[in-house]
Amino acid sequence: MESPKTGILILALVAVATAVGAYLGLQVRQPPQTAKAVAQGPVNFGKDHLRATYDPIHFKPAIEQATDAQCLACHREVLEDKVRETSPAGIKAASSKAWYQQLSTYTGEQETFHRRHLVTPMAKELMNLSCTTCHQGSDPREEAPGSSATAMPQSTDAFTLRKQVNPETTCLKCHGRMNVQVMGLPSPWPESKEMFGDSCLTCHAAIRTNRHQVSYLKAEAIEAAGAKNADTCYGCHGGRSWYRINYPYPRHAWAGMPPEVPEWAKDRPTESEARFQLPVATRK
Ligand code: HEC
Ligand code: HEC
Ligand code: HEC
Ligand code: HEC
Ligand code: HEC
Repeated sequence: MESPKTGILILALVAVATAVGAYLGLQVRQPPQTAKAVAQGPVNFGKDHLRATYDPIHFKPAIEQATDAQCLACHREVLEDKVRETSPAGIKAASSKAWYQQLSTYTGEQETFHRRHLVTPMAKELMNLSCTTCHQGSDPREEAPGSSATAMPQSTDAFTLRKQVNPETTCLKCHGRMNVQVMGLPSPWPESKEMFGDSCLTCHAAIRTNRHQVSYLKAEAIEAAGAKNADTCYGCHGGRSWYRINYPYPRHAWAGMPPEVPEWAKDRPTESEARFQLPVATRK
């Protein structure tokens, strides 16, 4: 037999549960943040985090038209974050330089990867990279192309397994090995450079002169800086190589080019990747 006390307790519990339920229901039914609020706000997606994660701007075709400002509306931290001055183990960032930070062109404090490519002085002087130069898609579900019926197909070259970019079509362009064989150099550049007056232009004033005509590079600024310091050229062509392979650069025709195509160049494209080509009228 139930005592009246138990009955009241059950009633009270039901009332509390109903109130909590109603409150939660209200929370869930809150209107989604609008794009405008997102752009202005401190970044707090609340319940819309998932929606933002799968925002179509992350995928082709929308990503092809995306501007940096659109990406940065949600990903401000990409350019605002700074590296720690001291690591948790007590090592000072200022006193620890990696092998790739030894070139004479390296300046300034330690910076994040994104800042080194987008906002530091050298990046701004020589390059014109945007978010979508490297980011062409990413699958938040598995970080794998073809992982679901609605994901980008297995055949995509927009990004590769477990990565948010495709290193072979982005990083390798500026972080591959120097192809000393095709250049006929007797040894790696650091050993042979004295022989050529420490200048790439000793040969490249007349060879493969039709270069850097792409939207993400500043061709004239590169030539000016490279004429003063060969490390500028070497930096992108072997001096910071993460790879043991070299990038198969397109081989643009140049004035005075010999008519025979050497064996190694038979499979090379003769134009830059289509998505980066400049309109012919603006090429220099
Ligand atoms: C509406 C807000 C919004 C916009 C606009 C947006 N993103 Fe995102 N993005 C997110 C959210 C939220 C995530 C998921 C982050 C997480 O779960 O850690 C995400 C994830 C990512 C990731 C994967 C990060 C990781 O750690 O897995 C990359 C890369 C990325 N975005 C790049 C971009 C680029 C490039 C653009 C512009 C083309 C862009 N995003 C535009 C909100 C946005
Ligand atoms: C030089 C190529 C490059 C450019 C330019 C670039 N990114 Fe990235 N980004 C990367 C790489 C590489 C990663 C790490 C990918 C991984 O872990 O698979 C990354 C990671 C990210 C992430 C994940 C979180 C993090 O910080 O690691 C976000 C978000 C992101 N990028 C957004 C952006 C936005 C927004 C821009 C433009 C302002 C941008 N990226 C420009 C190459 C680039
Ligand atoms: C268009 C050329 C270009 C592309 C593409 C490029 N980088 Fe770089 N990268 C540079 C230059 C130039 C520097 C040197 C910047 C400096 O010293 O200030 C650099 C520096 C770096 C550094 C050293 C950063 C530091 O703080 O010392 C890393 C790591 C790096 N790149 C990784 C990558 C990865 C990974 C990718 C592909 C997602 C990539 N880069 C794509 C040109 C490029
Ligand atoms: C001894 C002359 C010589 C010097 C010095 C020289 N190069 Fe080359 N370089 C060549 C020749 C020859 C080719 C191939 C020409 C052709 O396509 O037939 C070449 C090709 C290249 C290519 C395209 C490679 C490819 O696989 O398509 C790049 C990039 C390049 N050089 C950069 C440099 C840089 C950067 C320096 C200085 C650090 C430099 N070169 C110094 C002679 C030279
Ligand atoms: C910021 C990075 C960067 C710097 C600095 C740089 N290059 Fe390049 N270079 C590239 C990239 C990326 C390509 C491929 C562009 C494309 O796809 O057409 C390239 C292409 C080339 C090619 C192949 C040309 C062809 O036939 O299309 C030569 C030769 C070359 N560079 C020489 C040089 C010389 C010489 C310097 C210094 C004056 C130099 N580079 C400085 C990134 C750089």
